[in-house]
Amino acid sequence: MYNQGVLDRFNNPKNAGSLAGANGVGKVGNMQCGDIMKIYVQIERDIIRDAKFKTFGCVAAIASSDMVCDVIKGKTIDQALAISNSEIVTLLGGLPPQKVHCSVLAREAVEAAVADYKKRLEREKKKV
Ligand code: FES
Repeated sequence: MYNQGVLDRFNNPKNAGSLAGANGVGKVGNMQCGDIMKIYVQIERDIIRDAKFKTFGCVAAIASSDMVCDVIKGKTIDQALAISNSEIVTLLGGLPPQKVHCSVLAREAVEAAVADYKKRLEREKKKV
């Protein structure tokens, strides 16, 4: 069902865990399958310096989370938001059709993490 690359990421994710210095956290879920994904980002002057994830979900959800963390590191916020779920699928070497929604979840988690970062930034600005 899954290619070797997806299985490798599932078995040995590089970016699993929480991120101590995170200044943006995005949590999303899929109501139908019940999977939950959390992406942590550390952003400095619009550049994503680090990213990690915690995912309660299927093989494809974990592999997609791990891949998206690798992809967004070093990117600007806008570049990260421009990444589509089909790019994640391509980078993973493909996902079974019924598992494509797992890559959508990863894309949405990045969006939520960036939105959280922007909200925090606004709050900081108001304090000054
Ligand atoms: Fe729903 Fe994987 S089965 S995210």
